[in-house]
Amino acid sequence: MGFEQTKDLLGLRELNREDIELILNTALPMKDIIKRDIKKVPTLRGKALATVFYEPSTRTRTSFEIAGKYLSADTVNLTVNTSSVLKGESLRDTIKTIEVMGFDLMVMRHSMSGTPHYVARNTRMRIINAGDGANEHPTQALLDMFSIKEKKGSLDNLKIAIVGDILHSRVARSNIYGLSKFGCEVRVVGPSTLMPPEIEKLGVKRYYNLDEALNGVDVINVLRIQRERQQLGLFPSLDEYADLYMLSPEHLLRAKDDVLVLHPGPMNRGVEISSQLADSNVAVINEQVTNGVAVRMALLFLMMGGAKDEIAN
Ligand code: CP
Repeated sequence: MGFEQTKDLLGLRELNREDIELILNTALPMKDIIKRDIKKVPTLRGKALATVFYEPSTRTRTSFEIAGKYLSADTVNLTVNTSSVLKGESLRDTIKTIEVMGFDLMVMRHSMSGTPHYVARNTRMRIINAGDGANEHPTQALLDMFSIKEKKGSLDNLKIAIVGDILHSRVARSNIYGLSKFGCEVRVVGPSTLMPPEIEKLGVKRYYNLDEALNGVDVINVLRIQRERQQLGLFPSLDEYADLYMLSPEHLLRAKDDVLVLHPGPMNRGVEISSQLADSNVAVINEQVTNGVAVRMALLFLMMGGAKDEIAN
């Protein structure tokens, strides 16, 4: 079943290549709208969108909010740590409360893998997964793919290295599912303690040495070291991690001349990426954020039934 016939966007594993192409192609005119002086089209007027984040976020939550506003949807953000969740209200009751207010679509982030899937089965609202535990972060991977396609012209058959904490990374998983559908060679590299067992079953190549992994790659996607998991003792210290895996300009000599560096943010400068590289022309980190708005506008448009003639010109 294609994306347009499904109710929710829960992950890239279940999308096919045509679905992803539809979303990325729809994001193109959305990016034009963002560049306009008047960044507003009426296509989703009368539709209502709620963002419900049980984990912190800057980029994802804000970009969904502004994406909805650019398309004229009414957007409301439930800040969980100032909500009745703190009084003990269950997830089920929280979602039902939002549903009966008349919202059409809910964007959800939760620390437990599978929570958006559970919610999607129990509500008439359409659900977009904005990150669930270590499972998937589909809209991040879509904006990563849009950014790569924008610079490289095509996603087909690229060599892409994903560097860092693969074990806890929903960004890595969604990128692997998405890029594999375009014949990309996806390599994962990081310390053995941050590498999921049997990761090769997802069709990727596993590396422990950064230089080896970067040999001949078109794109490097650097993951955030999740400081909140430091207490688990998965590597000795941030300094030692940086010694082995921090991406710096000198590492790029191994990669293709026109290599592109991505980072989903937020960055730990000096841990997984050097400041010099993060601020260089090779890195497209700020463009990724802009593209995130365009991709999320495309998803809202496709999922809430926008009129095509209202996004043209
Ligand atoms: N990349 C990403 O998901 O960033 P936020 O946590 O700020 O949303």
